[in-house]
Amino acid sequence: MEQMELTLAREQPVKDKTKERAGKLMAGDCVERMRKLADASAQLVVTSPPYDELRDYNGYSFPFEDIAQELYRVTADGGVVVWVVGDRIRGGRSLTSFRQALTFQQIGFSAHDIMIYQKKNTPFMRSNAYTNAYEFMFVLSKGKPATFNPLKVPTARHGMELLTHNKLPDGINKKKLGELKKEKTRTNIWSYAVGLGGTTRDKIAFQHPAVFPEKLAEDHILSWSKPGDLVLDPMCGSGTTGKMALLHGREFIGIDISREYIEIARQRLESAGLAVKIVDRLSPKAVQQPDGTT
Ligand SMILES: C[S@@+](CC[C@H](N)C(=O)[O-])C[C@H]1O[C@@H](n2cnc3c(N)ncnc32)[C@H](O)[C@@H]1O
Repeated sequence: MEQMELTLAREQPVKDKTKERAGKLMAGDCVERMRKLADASAQLVVTSPPYDELRDYNGYSFPFEDIAQELYRVTADGGVVVWVVGDRIRGGRSLTSFRQALTFQQIGFSAHDIMIYQKKNTPFMRSNAYTNAYEFMFVLSKGKPATFNPLKVPTARHGMELLTHNKLPDGINKKKLGELKKEKTRTNIWSYAVGLGGTTRDKIAFQHPAVFPEKLAEDHILSWSKPGDLVLDPMCGSGTTGKMALLHGREFIGIDISREYIEIARQRLESAGLAVKIVDRLSPKAVQQPDGTT
């Protein structure tokens, strides 16, 4: 069944500006930049890598194993990495995503879940296969996830009475046993509209060629982190993860190899009223002290 749109009991975005911390954006190669972050400093990573050289990004470099190793080192115990990825389809599937998942597992991550990001309005593809309408969302954890706030959807028959029918000599006796559950935990297939208005309403984001939906980032942030946690996106593009992390009172570090994309992210976050700092140099101390201050 298609996932229902309404999510119950969502955490509300932070309205108190005094509780906001500036998000940090930095241009540079993510492996080099992550090497400056302290061990076990990020509670959550939500990111989407460039895959199979499908797009022409500004300054592209993709040493996958080094990235995976650094992600493991900077992830806190109980932390989660959400890796949103697809495969090149032309001439058969590349299966790059599968190879990456196995490498993550060999490095030490647990494959906590293999989720599907379904695109609701994918354009029809002329080919000898069905139109592809999804990407994977690998949910990789370092040990058991420390935080899980399952998102809920209403059940189809919520609130209806649950009755038993006992046949008695003088007729049927209905006995109320209780009410059916009003909500249930979502499935691991998440559907989002894509394009302007679906992915985001921020026109500036579309100056980047491969933005993922704000709600996708938001849903993972709400599921796997708490206010005050550090959320990292080492390939942050137009800053989607950062926008949703900061709106929900998380700390954020975003890295992208392209200065142009970092500038787009900065403008996008600032126009959402969020505080951002462009960081050129970063020492481990600047990122996190043991007491959590920066
Ligand atoms: C799929 S896009 C991410 C889009 C982002 N999720 C958004 O919603 O805008 C991948 C990004 O990885 C960046 N990138 C590629 N190689 C990189 C590297 N070695 N270090 C940091 N960023 C890199 C690209 O510039 C591109 O912006």
